[in-house]
Amino acid sequence: MANSNNLEQSVQSLPLQSYYNSENFNDELKAIWQKEWIYTCHEKSIKDPLDFITLKISNYNIVILRDKNNQIVAYLNTCRHRGSILCEEESGKLKNNLLVCKYHQWSYNASNGNLVRTSSFEVPSNFNPEEHALEKVQLKLWNGLVFVNLDNEAKWNTESMFQDYDEIINEVGLEDFEVGHSWEKTINCNWKIFWENYSECLHCPNIHPELSELVPVYGRRIMDIKDSPDWEKFIETPDPKYQGGLKKGAETWSLDGSAQGNIIKALQGTNDFPGHIYLTNWPSMFMAIFIDHVRIVRVTPINEKTMSLSVDWFFESETLNDPNYDKKNVVDFATLVMGQDGDACELNQKGVYNPTSKPGTLMPEEYELKRFHDWLRQKVNYV
Ligand code: FES
Ligand SMILES: [Fe+2]
Repeated sequence: MANSNNLEQSVQSLPLQSYYNSENFNDELKAIWQKEWIYTCHEKSIKDPLDFITLKISNYNIVILRDKNNQIVAYLNTCRHRGSILCEEESGKLKNNLLVCKYHQWSYNASNGNLVRTSSFEVPSNFNPEEHALEKVQLKLWNGLVFVNLDNEAKWNTESMFQDYDEIINEVGLEDFEVGHSWEKTINCNWKIFWENYSECLHCPNIHPELSELVPVYGRRIMDIKDSPDWEKFIETPDPKYQGGLKKGAETWSLDGSAQGNIIKALQGTNDFPGHIYLTNWPSMFMAIFIDHVRIVRVTPINEKTMSLSVDWFFESETLNDPNYDKKNVVDFATLVMGQDGDACELNQKGVYNPTSKPGTLMPEEYELKRFHDWLRQKVNYV
């Protein structure tokens, strides 16, 4: 297996109880979801001053808003009086540059979180409003995407965040793209099961017949040509089954393989675009760049046995405004594939509850799962 990506030894997977026990889940919330950069939305989802959205990660709740001066800021969505939630809605618009608690009307300046007024007749002499400001959450705007981090000390480091980082993201101009379609799905599985499924293609031919036809290398149960022990033998074989990429004649992930004449400006004239480029950021998102659009998938845990998937398809405005471009072609294809993965994840989850202490096993092609497990094990103690 020299030179191949594959694991040389089979290795133990995580204990099955880690996919449903609340102790591990709470540890993950603290050690991962509270420490890592979490993808929230495209900045155009909070387009105008005073627009806000809320982000729910299990029981954590964050409000992200654009203030009257066009600055995007994030706070813990918790009133400093007695802890009521400030904004309950998933999205909305503030009446003015204030966040007002619905319970007893404490008001906070939306730009800096400062407490502006309480509802008491008088403020006690030992009460210092400055000590009761909203708690700020770190926020980073990157290529038009809004990320937050509940750890105020955390540093942003693009290359270590995206294990498959590709400079192309800085060229596509994602900040100017528009959301053309959104889709949400609740999946009855632990959030780790989603990422495990994402990390291998052993399931591809039987779970994704359509995708395996479009991306022939997936039909061989591998993600990359170097996942096959004898890949060097096929270096000269032009068949995409051995070279990766899309099947002959296909341009993008769509029902008929066509990009309908719309190519992202920065990718026009490239002859060697591989069909898709993934950028993956555990634990909360991945994006896939295609020749005509970008798809971003957001993962959020609801509880130890349930997660939510929120997906946005981004297009250049010229593409969306082209009367001959039917976005259904790409939307329906990806929805089909993601639905198949959701079903597979639920299938996986249903089997983990039996009273056994025997963990599963990772096979050679599951090297990405091992990387994911190594990353998890550095942060959480799974026994
Ligand atoms: S809990 Fe918010 S004002 Fe009382
Ligand atoms: Fe899949």
